[in-house]
Amino acid sequence: MKKKYLIANWKMHLNPRQAYRLAESYLKYTSPSQNVSTILCPSFTALSDMSALIGKNRSVHIGAQDCFWKSSGSFTGEESPSILSGLGVRYVLIGHSERRIHLGETDAMVHLKLKGILEQSKLKPILCIGENSGEQKSGSTFQILEKQLRGALDGLKIARQILIAYEPVWAIGSGNSITPVDCKKIADWIRMFLSKRYSSISNSTSILYGGSIDLANAHSIIVNGGIDGLLVGSASLHSRTLAALHGILARK
Ligand code: PGA
Repeated sequence: MKKKYLIANWKMHLNPRQAYRLAESYLKYTSPSQNVSTILCPSFTALSDMSALIGKNRSVHIGAQDCFWKSSGSFTGEESPSILSGLGVRYVLIGHSERRIHLGETDAMVHLKLKGILEQSKLKPILCIGENSGEQKSGSTFQILEKQLRGALDGLKIARQILIAYEPVWAIGSGNSITPVDCKKIADWIRMFLSKRYSSISNSTSILYGGSIDLANAHSIIVNGGIDGLLVGSASLHSRTLAALHGILARK
């Protein structure tokens, strides 16, 4: 059975102490499951303590919310894949729409990040893609996804598992999630596109959905949305909700 993923993106909501407490409480409410990996993504400042807490837990891992593409040097404010690996981080989000919107991150930068991750570390990248509401309304969703996928992946030799999170910008933080039918259409399209253009990674790539996931919609999206897991923002800030989402994935 293909592994399922539950990714908690805590964004800039928690200080290190709050992140630690939330992780502790999540561990208390969750029974380990062989077929679900949880990846907790706190802010950089919490990574070190959180990885000490998680230790060698085989089903819960730590992820970073971003990284830079160089391994070291004069890059004020940045963190490299190799520095993150040294802190016990196993996964890293790249290309999240909030970074594309607020920090001007481009497809070319996402590509460099992916390249840096693959060359410098064993981190598994979680590549975020998704159209905004104008693009969705004008019917250019697949065009945008193709542009973002090609911008990130073209020209790279990828010999490890990557995760792709489809996160429509109009769904993030809006309370307005995708329907399972539409989610399946997009997930099937991404799989088809990968198998045509990047056949060496298409079987091992996990496709996730993110955008206003909560306890009311998670079950139907997991069962009928054609995806391998969830990337969760707001709902992941509550340990019992996060544990309940884990339970839904584990039962699928
Ligand atoms: P949300 O955020 O679940 O609060 O919509 C998801 C994300 O931005 O990854």
